[in-house]
Amino acid sequence: MDHAAFVYDFLEPILMLGKLAEYDRHILSLLELKENNKVLDLGCGTGVLTRMIGDQLNREAGGVSLGIDAAAKMIRVATRKRGNATCRFEVMAAEDLYFDDSAFDAVVSSLFFHHVPLDLKEKALWQALRILRPSVKLIIADMHVPTTFMGALVSHVSRWFFMQPQIGENISGVLPSLIEKVGFISPAHITTYFGYIAIFATRKPEESRL
Ligand SMILES: C[S@@+](CC[C@H](N)C(=O)[O-])C[C@H]1O[C@@H](n2cnc3c(N)ncnc32)[C@H](O)[C@@H]1O
Repeated sequence: MDHAAFVYDFLEPILMLGKLAEYDRHILSLLELKENNKVLDLGCGTGVLTRMIGDQLNREAGGVSLGIDAAAKMIRVATRKRGNATCRFEVMAAEDLYFDDSAFDAVVSSLFFHHVPLDLKEKALWQALRILRPSVKLIIADMHVPTTFMGALVSHVSRWFFMQPQIGENISGVLPSLIEKVGFISPAHITTYFGYIAIFATRKPEESRL
């Protein structure tokens, strides 16, 4: 999404109908952070949520919020506007993370999974499981089965307009079963924003095969 990097901070609050701050705060609260946590934000875009997470952490205690995104221009904007001691950014594909096993205390992702096809959704989830410590959290907010007429309209129009079958996968409801399939505990569906963006919360099992 390099093409959107310079207008993203302007457009996203409009597309989120003025509820972006509330939505991000909700995701933040679900993470139940401690100041020494290491948190990874998959598909971080320009890093608004990554920075909100970083602001809860303490560098001296080892806390860091790391945003990764496949679009170099997104990472350039994020680093310039939001990078600091507890908030860092790197260009990286979510399906090909080069962090050590069990390196993070939480993984979060907002509005990334509808951008990638099913095989990459699964690979990214598998990578998230690998880099998480046992029994810690994964929070995913993304397009899911619409719950209102407007939600259905927006999701089906975006699927058609952007010609993205991967949006169709999301709105057919693949995310929860895929999250469970890679080895996470069955995710709780916390809430739905705007009738089509669901928030899921889960954990890596204590006894994981990874
Ligand atoms: C709609 S934006 C969401 C940005 C941010 N998380 C938010 O909630 O505002 C989706 C982001 O996913 C990134 N993305 C798409 N495919 C990716 C991949 N395979 N790995 C990592 N990031 C990817 C895009 O570059 C884009 O910045």
